Amino acid sequence: MKENQIIFQPMGRRIEADENLTLLELANLAGAGIEAACSGKGRCGKCRVQVRGNATPPGKSELEILGADEAKDYRLACQTHVPGAATVWVPEISRLNSQVILTAGGDYTADFGPGIKSAELEVPLPDFKEHAADRERMLTRLSRSAGIFEGRNHQQTPLSVLCGLEEKLRSNAGRVTVVTTRSGSILDVSPGWDHQCLGLAVDLGTTTVVAYLIDFRTGKPIGVKADMNPQVAEAEDVVSRISLCRERPENLERLSGMARKCIERLASSICREQGIDTDRIFEIVVVGNTAMHHIFLGLNPEHLAMAPYTPVAADGFSVRAAELELAFSPETRVHLPPVKAGFVGSDAVAMALALDADQVTEPTLMVDLGTNGEIVLASPDRILCCSTAAGPAFEGGHIRWGTRGAPGAVDSVDLSNSEGAPRLSVIGGLAPKGICGSGLVSLVSSLVRTGIVTSAGAFDIESFNPRLRRGPDGLEYVLAEAQDTGTGRDLVFTHHDLAQLQLAKAAIHAGISLMMAEMGVDRLSKVLLAGAFGNYLNTEAACGINMLPGVTPAQIKSAGNAAGAGAVMVLMSCSQRSRAQNLADRMQYLELAVHPGFNDAFLDGMAFP
Ligand code: FES
Repeated sequence: MKENQIIFQPMGRRIEADENLTLLELANLAGAGIEAACSGKGRCGKCRVQVRGNATPPGKSELEILGADEAKDYRLACQTHVPGAATVWVPEISRLNSQVILTAGGDYTADFGPGIKSAELEVPLPDFKEHAADRERMLTRLSRSAGIFEGRNHQQTPLSVLCGLEEKLRSNAGRVTVVTTRSGSILDVSPGWDHQCLGLAVDLGTTTVVAYLIDFRTGKPIGVKADMNPQVAEAEDVVSRISLCRERPENLERLSGMARKCIERLASSICREQGIDTDRIFEIVVVGNTAMHHIFLGLNPEHLAMAPYTPVAADGFSVRAAELELAFSPETRVHLPPVKAGFVGSDAVAMALALDADQVTEPTLMVDLGTNGEIVLASPDRILCCSTAAGPAFEGGHIRWGTRGAPGAVDSVDLSNSEGAPRLSVIGGLAPKGICGSGLVSLVSSLVRTGIVTSAGAFDIESFNPRLRRGPDGLEYVLAEAQDTGTGRDLVFTHHDLAQLQLAKAAIHAGISLMMAEMGVDRLSKVLLAGAFGNYLNTEAACGINMLPGVTPAQIKSAGNAAGAGAVMVLMSCSQRSRAQNLADRMQYLELAVHPGFNDAFLDGMAFP
């Protein structure tokens, strides 16, 4: 973090600290919308935030509004001044606009055959003729049940299930619902019939978390919820989070707890809406990049950031929810699909599964763009993968007016009248407050096409464009003037921003070129762009900045949240789970950090067409 910078999260908005202004005033200037029903008079309590940094102590009236308990964690933004660097977390309830999070996973199909099933049994009550023990009478009935996995010996009955079994078997004339795993472990016995049996698939991203609730009895989706990953308040990208964990073991515990609580909250939120108890969730599949995977499990991620970037464990495996202290039924299974390498996680494997990387007939590229671009290149006989350190530019990070895709973000720019004001498309139709990744690509593509930016990646002062001017840090392009923006300040794109975008797209270009060279292909038949950025990206603009080598816009397709779709497939089908492991085994990882051709490929990727 810069010495004097305040970062508002999860919006990722930055501004210079100024102790004469309140955090609410700074948030408004930075374009980070915070609720302020009393217009900053300190009466409504709507502007609650959490501050990490040196804030002025709370006054009496603030303490009265917050109450002693809340005042330990929260501050009122309109009553708080911060003299130096700080990170300010704006909780969902205080956010004026919520981030747009992609939950749709496209049209993916999977055979239905989950690893969890439930059976409704009628277990005879004991008498002097049938006086076998409670568990054994239940197991005898279970082995005859048509709805349960056959040929298995259901002998694994954990103590948590045995406790209270006698009452459950007697309270409803022997009618019980039993939930088991494919390998024969009993997860739950509940008195009566007609109980739900549910699974949860989670895409645990660096920035966002999406949870899908599935009915194991029918295979139908029940609901989906998404939120920002609360770890963003501690550190924005995976490398910073790994550094935090390396600094102190308590940091790992805290980050891990944040991810787990976020998953619990999303599950509770869907269940509450549907009138279902979260205790009926018996399996959870979690996909994420390798750092997220490790931090969620409480595994030390330190070596992921040190050559040769080795994970603690790579193959898929399951643990009990109780081992992770997750607030679900104690025997609920949490399955972690395989990760491939330090920077190619189970989200990339899930993407490859959902996009059928093992069934392509021609060279097909699959890309999930975020802070790290995860790229899979599949051909009929080989599957390559790599990760490119694209940096946070595509998520609005390190860009003067960069923001994530939320209402108020410019997501597309039309410069067809290059002398006049640019036509901006803004999420939610609001006055613009910042520019998100797809807007940046669209803007730069237009600037290159109109000659305002040269092929070397510099503003061309000789273009004499009236929107190009000298700002405090050098040349900048004015996207919107103060009177037309939602922040009351000019919305500009600086030469520093241009350099950040150029570096990000060069990293992706280099990764793709090197994979194509490694596979010996000089053309791609299809490019599938997964994730939120890929979904909203204008394909003409992506080609217009030379980000994706050797393809035309017609060859590019959006693939939705493919990682989330892959997680659902793994949850719904044991055969898809095996397929995910086979895919991970088949994928060959290309380490770009030590690749001898990387520098040349990167330099090639810097050029604009
Ligand atoms: S805006 Fe109302 S208390 Fe801060």
